[in-house]
Amino acid sequence: MSLNFAILGAGRIGQVHARAVAATPGAKLVAIADPVAAATDALRATYGCDVRSIDQIEASGDVDAVVICTPTDTHADLIERFVRAGKAVFCEKPVDLSLARVQACLKVVEASKGKVMVGFNRRFDPDFMAVKAAIEAGKIGAVEMVTITSRDPGAPPADYITRSGGMFRDMTIHDFDMARWLLGEEVETVYASASVLTDKTIGDLGDFDSANVILRTATGKQAVITNSRRATYGYDQRIEVLGAKGMAAAENHGESRVVLADEKGFHAAPLLNFFMTRYIAAYANEIASFVAAVQGNGPMPTTTHDGLMALALAEAALKSVKEGRAVKVSEIL
Ligand SMILES: NC(=O)c1ccc[n+]([C@@H]2O[C@H](COP(=O)([O-])OP(=O)(O)OC[C@H]3O[C@@H](n4cnc5c(N)ncnc54)[C@H](O)[C@@H]3O)[C@@H](O)[C@H]2O)c1
Repeated sequence: MSLNFAILGAGRIGQVHARAVAATPGAKLVAIADPVAAATDALRATYGCDVRSIDQIEASGDVDAVVICTPTDTHADLIERFVRAGKAVFCEKPVDLSLARVQACLKVVEASKGKVMVGFNRRFDPDFMAVKAAIEAGKIGAVEMVTITSRDPGAPPADYITRSGGMFRDMTIHDFDMARWLLGEEVETVYASASVLTDKTIGDLGDFDSANVILRTATGKQAVITNSRRATYGYDQRIEVLGAKGMAAAENHGESRVVLADEKGFHAAPLLNFFMTRYIAAYANEIASFVAAVQGNGPMPTTTHDGLMALALAEAALKSVKEGRAVKVSEIL
């Protein structure tokens, strides 16, 4: 039996997930909701799905699961609404920008025994999964230090910066989740430094565009995250994990693997430009993992708790920048 999906929100990430659902064996895209007709018309034409309102989808007997791709401030309400309606829920990060709201949502999910997966797509990237598998197989020994480089090719529009909660809650949140996942231990202390180096408008909006964060667990393991909203050479996404017996690293993905050499040097293609292309395989894998977990009645691969912990690290980083000191996660949660 196929798992029938509706997608809520047909913007940038809604389109990515529509393609992933349509391509996943055992999944079927039945309906899409978005108040903007131009967004839904394109998806209806491509996938032959219905366009329905959120109310209609909630009441639809032929929809088993929803993918929430609407703006962040709608996520927690929609999660609660759809778990109460008995649907499985895949929700894009972050669950909400308020820790209290995420905690309240988590209680509703637990009370209704809802199946909710939160979209931390990088855990499903084939290269990053291979790094994690190497750690779990003991190939690099006990993890000691994690280094995450995560730079966007350019800043989003000004209105997105204000709505999305700023760099730590919207962008670094992926890296906080990756750090927890790769360290294999919860973070105890956060130290962050952030500044505005690429675009003054971002600073005028009260946000940062350049940041370094150091995370430390109770046993002394550390992760360093380095972020920028500007990378002139494309979407820069690298991780490195140092263990007692070795190191595992995942390098960037270029548009091609061909290298040309001449008297001036070696020339390679630019990096894949942004998440829609760099993480295609990750988005496909995460939807396939969601389908497998729902159909097999297994645990969700990423949960509302993961969403809560990543947001707590973002809040700790913000506090650290404001107060110029290391912040314990216990001060936040
Ligand atoms: N995991 C990732 O890699 C990733 C990448 C991008 C965005 N996101 C997250 O996905 C969410 C959406 O981001 P985006 O960049 O796609 O935004 P977007 O603005 O491109 O798309 C949002 C869409 O939702 C629609 N919408 C608004 N209110 C709605 C409602 N009540 N019902 C139905 N549709 C509604 C809008 O019309 C718009 O088409 C954000 O929370 C963002 O943090 C995650």
